[in-house]
Amino acid sequence: MSSKAYLVQWQTTFDAINDSVCLLDMNGKILRCNKAMESLLQKSSKEIIGGTCWKLVHGTDKPIKGCPIVRMKKTLCRETLVLEVDDKWLNVTVDPVIDETGNLTSAVHIISDITQHKQAEKALKRLNEEFLKEHNQRKILSKSLIDLLEKDRRKIAMELHDHIGQILTSIKLNLEMIHEKLKPGGMELGAQIAAVQERTIQAIKDIKNVSRGLRPAMIESLGVVSSLRELFNEIQQQTDIEIRFFSRGIPKRFEEAKELAVYRIAQEALTNIIRHAGAKNIFVNLVKKDKKLLLSVEDNGVGFDQDKVMKPSKRKRSLGLLIMRERAVQLEGEFTIESQPGKGTHLLVEIPI
Ligand SMILES: Nc1ncnc2c1ncn2[C@@H]1O[C@H](COP(=O)(O)OP(=O)(O)O)[C@@H](O)[C@H]1O
Ligand SMILES: [Mg+2]
Repeated sequence: MSSKAYLVQWQTTFDAINDSVCLLDMNGKILRCNKAMESLLQKSSKEIIGGTCWKLVHGTDKPIKGCPIVRMKKTLCRETLVLEVDDKWLNVTVDPVIDETGNLTSAVHIISDITQHKQAEKALKRLNEEFLKEHNQRKILSKSLIDLLEKDRRKIAMELHDHIGQILTSIKLNLEMIHEKLKPGGMELGAQIAAVQERTIQAIKDIKNVSRGLRPAMIESLGVVSSLRELFNEIQQQTDIEIRFFSRGIPKRFEEAKELAVYRIAQEALTNIIRHAGAKNIFVNLVKKDKKLLLSVEDNGVGFDQDKVMKPSKRKRSLGLLIMRERAVQLEGEFTIESQPGKGTHLLVEIPI
């Protein structure tokens, strides 16, 4: 093959490449370039050849700061640089051409237009930032909702206990007085008053129970472990479920928000078991391990299909499980639940302490 035919073959190969390719001498002067280079610089090959790439691309008389050609001369390895020129992003690579005697003779300079890639990267970054912002806003919102829920519960509990409870107590005292003052012979009326007294006492007890469930004030005096033990005793008295509670290493008091979260999650888990599981046994473990609080609640009830329950649907959305998870997540914790129809349910919460 003649040397001219050989050159034509190489030029055609060069021109078929989408990236801008040129061959430089050791002074940075362009010896050869392809069509993509011509269209990138908007110049003909005649105008390009003989010029330096810093003059042609940057309009400067000297190499720009970080110029990969200068670096390649020292390292004799491929050097790269990402540049923003006008409204384009360019990826520049420079490879040394070394002859058979080991001398650096020239350099292959490739410029790839990575504008689209950069734009996609920027769009992705922006989306990511928006997503993060929205996520943080949701986190704040759900924290406010949980705080509000607790505040409302506290308010209702106080109304019930302090206001309605007081009224019932005074009715009870009045009934006692009336009973005492009843003339002898008023047996029938006496029996009726005694029945009303009994129902009043029951109402006072019920209100106490409801208000205690709404506002676990005893956490402050007893701590979480004893408060939970009381809750479980109460449930055992009211149902025929056997609860085994084991706890180890839990400090009497710790961060208030964490105490309340542990108590509320256990309370909701037990409410779910009573309501849905039909279980005979519940095993509750609350331990501290490696700076983590671990709460595990296991029942041997009917279990449930997680895919169906967790799947967003148009039917009424249950909030219990969601709020439990949210309480744990708010405290940088984790919430997992495992359940299968017929195989019971196991709930596990980890909260850093
Ligand atoms: N321990 C459990 N045993 C059986 N089913 C359960 C248990 N816990 C939750 N579930 C199922 O998960 C559903 C969602 O629970 P939850 O979010 O607390 O809402 P709700 O109790 O108001 O229905 C329940 O309706 C029930 O079908
Ligand atoms: Mg529930």
